[in-house]
Amino acid sequence: MIPVYRPALDEKETAYVLEAMNSSWISSRGEFLDRFERGFADFVGARYGVATCNGTVSLHLILAALGLGPGDEVIVPTFTYVASVNAITYTGASPVFVDSHLDYWNLDPDRVREAVGPRTRAILAVHLYGHPADMEPLEKIAAEHGLHLVEDAAEAHGAEYMGRRVGPLGVAGSFSFFGNKVITTGEGGMVVTDNEAFAERCRHLRGQGVSPTRTYWHDAVGFNYRMTNLAAAVGVAQLSKIDAILARKREIADAYARGLGTVPGVTLQPEMSWARNVFWMYSILVDPIERDELMVHLRDHGVDSRPFFHPAHTLPMYRVADGSYPVAERLGASGINLPSFPDLTASEIEEVCAAVQGFFAR
Ligand SMILES: Cc1ncc(COP(=O)(O)O)c(C=O)c1O
Repeated sequence: MIPVYRPALDEKETAYVLEAMNSSWISSRGEFLDRFERGFADFVGARYGVATCNGTVSLHLILAALGLGPGDEVIVPTFTYVASVNAITYTGASPVFVDSHLDYWNLDPDRVREAVGPRTRAILAVHLYGHPADMEPLEKIAAEHGLHLVEDAAEAHGAEYMGRRVGPLGVAGSFSFFGNKVITTGEGGMVVTDNEAFAERCRHLRGQGVSPTRTYWHDAVGFNYRMTNLAAAVGVAQLSKIDAILARKREIADAYARGLGTVPGVTLQPEMSWARNVFWMYSILVDPIERDELMVHLRDHGVDSRPFFHPAHTLPMYRVADGSYPVAERLGASGINLPSFPDLTASEIEEVCAAVQGFFAR
């Protein structure tokens, strides 16, 4: 079976983890943590990085550090991974779902504008499947209404919006380093920001709100959201390969586009003129009636795949009775992620394409 994802790990990760282990710095302090925070912040063009134990809590950390709570509303695309929405809920604020744009599968700024109300405090832009959201109109709406603009860049390490890497484009951005992400630390996440005071607030809340000057004195309800030095050791090794991983992802995307671009019934993953997509998971759209059948056909031909996320407003705890999200529902019902890992070979890509072609030729 060709898996959907497999991280690119070699002797470097092993050597760095052993080094961390032998140094006895295995918890949440150590040289690798400093190197990973600095290195990843540099990579995305941010001034500060605050490493966390996953990409869900890094989002929560941002929203908590912004002081969001009950009575506040945060605009979020309904077409996203559930963690984007859960992070809002953890603060006591309410998610306000907005539909996506069919051309690039992310927040539709016109729908965002309509959703702003007296309680709106923030817009959470998600860069789904590696394609950036259209940030400029969102920045404009945020500025006009005094809202915080936050990025969920869990799936978009190195993606660019108008030549700027995503992450630090708003007040802060969040990344995930789960095993299937562009780079991994096993489990892991990071807040990136250009704002020194905000980075400090995140560090403070990440470490149980402890006073920097008085032992065991906690002056805020904080969290233990720290990353370990062991995980950061994997991250430092991964970061040294990120350019090669991104280049390979582009080659994979180009190969899929060549192999599937002329197959009737298949819509390829987009890349807008203002965007650099990192094609985290190469994705296609097909007729919703055929989507699940195609996935079974792929499995029968030795190819693993994933369906797109269910829009959050369709999940039991977030059900919206009176909303209209036709694009999100269409995307959720018609999308498939294809195998997209760095050491996927040319012949494996051909196998995947042949299986898709075979399905539509039957
Ligand atoms: C869009 C999005 N947001 C947030 C997350 C949460 O990241 P993590 O799984 O590291 O908690 C993920 C990853 O799975 C994601 O894809």
